[in-house]
Amino acid sequence: MCGIFGYVTKNEEALGSILIAAAERLTYRGYDSVGAATMNHGKIDLRKDVGKVDAVAAKYNIAEMRGQRGITQLRWATFGEPSQVNSQPHLDSNGDMVGAHNGNVVNNVELREEFMAEGMIVRSQNDGETCVHAVERYIKRGYQFIDAIRLAYGDLQGDYAFVIGRADDDKLYAFKKGSGMVIGIGDGFTCLSSDLPSILPLTREVIRPQDGEIVTLWADRVEVRSVKDGKIIQRMPETVTEAMDAVQKGGYPHFMLKEIHEQAQVARELIHLLDGSPDVQPLIEKMKSARHLYFIGCGTSYHAALAGAVYFAQLAGRAVIPILAPQFIAQYAPAVGYEDVGIFVSQSGETKDVLNALEAAEKRGMSCFGLANVVGSTLTKATSFCLPLCCGYEISVPATKTFTNQVVTFLYLAYRLAGKDPSTALGDHSLRSGRAIDRIPDLMEQTIEMVAPQIEAIAKDINEWNDMYCLGYGATYPIALEGALKLKEITYAHCEGMLSTEFKHGPLSAVSKGFPIVFVAGTNDVPLIISGINEVKVRGARTIVVAEEDSRLRANGDDLVVIPKSDPQISALLAVLPLQLLSYHMSVLRGFDPDFPRNLSKTLTVD
Ligand code: G6P
Repeated sequence: MCGIFGYVTKNEEALGSILIAAAERLTYRGYDSVGAATMNHGKIDLRKDVGKVDAVAAKYNIAEMRGQRGITQLRWATFGEPSQVNSQPHLDSNGDMVGAHNGNVVNNVELREEFMAEGMIVRSQNDGETCVHAVERYIKRGYQFIDAIRLAYGDLQGDYAFVIGRADDDKLYAFKKGSGMVIGIGDGFTCLSSDLPSILPLTREVIRPQDGEIVTLWADRVEVRSVKDGKIIQRMPETVTEAMDAVQKGGYPHFMLKEIHEQAQVARELIHLLDGSPDVQPLIEKMKSARHLYFIGCGTSYHAALAGAVYFAQLAGRAVIPILAPQFIAQYAPAVGYEDVGIFVSQSGETKDVLNALEAAEKRGMSCFGLANVVGSTLTKATSFCLPLCCGYEISVPATKTFTNQVVTFLYLAYRLAGKDPSTALGDHSLRSGRAIDRIPDLMEQTIEMVAPQIEAIAKDINEWNDMYCLGYGATYPIALEGALKLKEITYAHCEGMLSTEFKHGPLSAVSKGFPIVFVAGTNDVPLIISGINEVKVRGARTIVVAEEDSRLRANGDDLVVIPKSDPQISALLAVLPLQLLSYHMSVLRGFDPDFPRNLSKTLTVD
């Protein structure tokens, strides 16, 4: 997740150290490249590169940079690989302006082409540069700077925050769409950032601009205008009282809980990104003509691959082989060839098991594509192309938002492969309100709201148990596996995920009085789940059912955790949220730190 920071003072100052310190405070968001620009008396000084803040700062002596205004940016690659030219900030064609953004401008590929056709100098593949040229376009057409920014806002689609300054000026200008942005007002300076932590040590007086507003920052004042009509909007500063640690965690006690709550927003951003991605259609074509299609991953990413395989069959009638990466090597690699397609799924893009499988597949000439959160990771470089998950940095070891965005990507691809407009493919209720896939983020928010208190109470009730099961069927089977993995990872209890119908073939013998069994029930599978519930209930189990409201399930299960109504595939995805919350609360109740569970690491780069 990129981060921006801007700073305005009255006179020229040594801004380098202020920018480095602010960049350091943004690092927790995750990044691969760093840049800084200062503006003063008609001159712009720009220094940037791939690397850690201290390394880039030392290499380019950022500390010596002086100016009356400064911008720093940490880049988390989405558009364009991590490289010096793709690092931010970016200049306009003539080097008169400099700007940087965080987030994603999803129509940047089209805009870049337009800008080049209009004669502008486009130097990178990065969408931050697109934002600068979007302003330049209207300056060239004779608009005043503020109006050029207003018009650029209309052209730039996506979720982002953007700051820009002119060499020959004394102000910075900023706006945001979908993403966060905070303005700080200090003694003799103003500043802005993607989030609070980089501002807090400087000032606690802040303004939070809304979408559709442009902020102009002078050293001693801030002006907020409406994009629509250019009129000034009165906005009083607020005083922030939270501590730094709490602010970094977004006010949540742990990163895991913060990341659980971020899922709706990152899903929203991902859907926008996929809508604008030039890579989706070529991938669909490749998958269509493939002899066999493999989805390959480990851990949580494997569960997403499994969910993807169910969606592809159910929605597009396409068989997929989902397989754990090491088993792919043993079971399928000897048999694959150039007619086959593999999608390698990995949050980190560095999991050794996955990279080994990729190597084995490539040796056989298979077409290999990726799905990864860390753009610039080995997987993204070693595959033909890799769709980004667009989640930003996931700090907590248990994967949450990266899992749901992997699943959303597969769902999106399944509809595209089916060749159906998602709005007609998803059933009646979707027709009333546009594409069903667009409703996922709101449904996620509703789910958390609906289940949170009940899940906390259930966590208390079953917390003494060190043995559990989590069962699902069809589209909910991968979700049950993922729920069980979350519970294992951070509660240290044994929790087995299983196909509900398999439970009677052995594990049934484990059931004793009060034994907790979670059922994740899809709407089409209720009768099957009910027989599973009764099988274990008569033997004393406590049955916790995650499902849409259903009187039959209510009558048969001990607890019904109700999620919102939606299509079966989306419903399965929503069901993972209560399971993530259950594992989180049980972990905390046991006195563990869910963000950093013992023995586990976020990225496993060993065999
Ligand atoms: C490790 C992590 C898991 C993760 C798995 C795959 O085992 O602890 O949480 O699911 O690696 O990671 P990847 O980065 O490839 O998705």
